[in-house]
Amino acid sequence: MAITIAVDGPSGSGKSTVSKEVARRNGLAYLDTGAMYRAATWWVLDQGVDPDDEEAVIAAVKAMELTVPVDPDDQVILCAGRDITDAIRTPELSRVVSAVSSYFPVRDILIRMQRDIITAETKPDSYSSGRGIVAEGRDITTVVHPNAHVRVLLTASEEARLERRAKEFAGTVDAKTIEQTRGIVSERDRQDSAVTAFLTAADGVVTIDSSSMSIADVVDTIENLVRRVT
Ligand code: DC
Repeated sequence: MAITIAVDGPSGSGKSTVSKEVARRNGLAYLDTGAMYRAATWWVLDQGVDPDDEEAVIAAVKAMELTVPVDPDDQVILCAGRDITDAIRTPELSRVVSAVSSYFPVRDILIRMQRDIITAETKPDSYSSGRGIVAEGRDITTVVHPNAHVRVLLTASEEARLERRAKEFAGTVDAKTIEQTRGIVSERDRQDSAVTAFLTAADGVVTIDSSSMSIADVVDTIENLVRRVT
């Protein structure tokens, strides 16, 4: 049976690290939907489109040629044949991604692509050989794939999330880097949560608070949920 695992959560909850590890351990594909919103934002900026011009953004995203990776250990993402893996992680792009993600026609385009990838991974002729997929983002448990076998909302205290992000951005955790990170992360979460409801679990979604859990503990908890349905 192909298994589908949906993981949602805010920035810094650890969902990418954990989702990749669950995929690796179980021979599943891995889909980072946040990377797709980032790629759409990169494309909009690359095309010289004003992110505030909704119609122009929608037209650009419709024409976007995106190659989305599903190997948890090879996350090279291509747009119009160009490797944009690093370019989609810059702080400048992170500041614009919420605006682009807030346009519902943009979401419709990306959600359709996400559902096609999830469906493909339930078929034998796929990366996972039909074993299934772990998909992570903000609206996977609620909109993209509410019928997933395992649905998880991964949360963490604001303090824990800021510390993880500060370490990622600045390499160190001190009062200054925490404050710099707070400005970026909290503002993005505020904007994103106006569009998708990822701060409270929908019916049937299991909340895991990772504040004081190791990555391995969170992975084990998700694997226990998988065992219950297989
Ligand atoms: O997970 P991330 O930080 O890479 O996501 C980047 C942005 O994409 C995030 O600010 C909100 C948006 N996003 C979304 O709207 N829906 C998703 N399923 C995933 C991400």
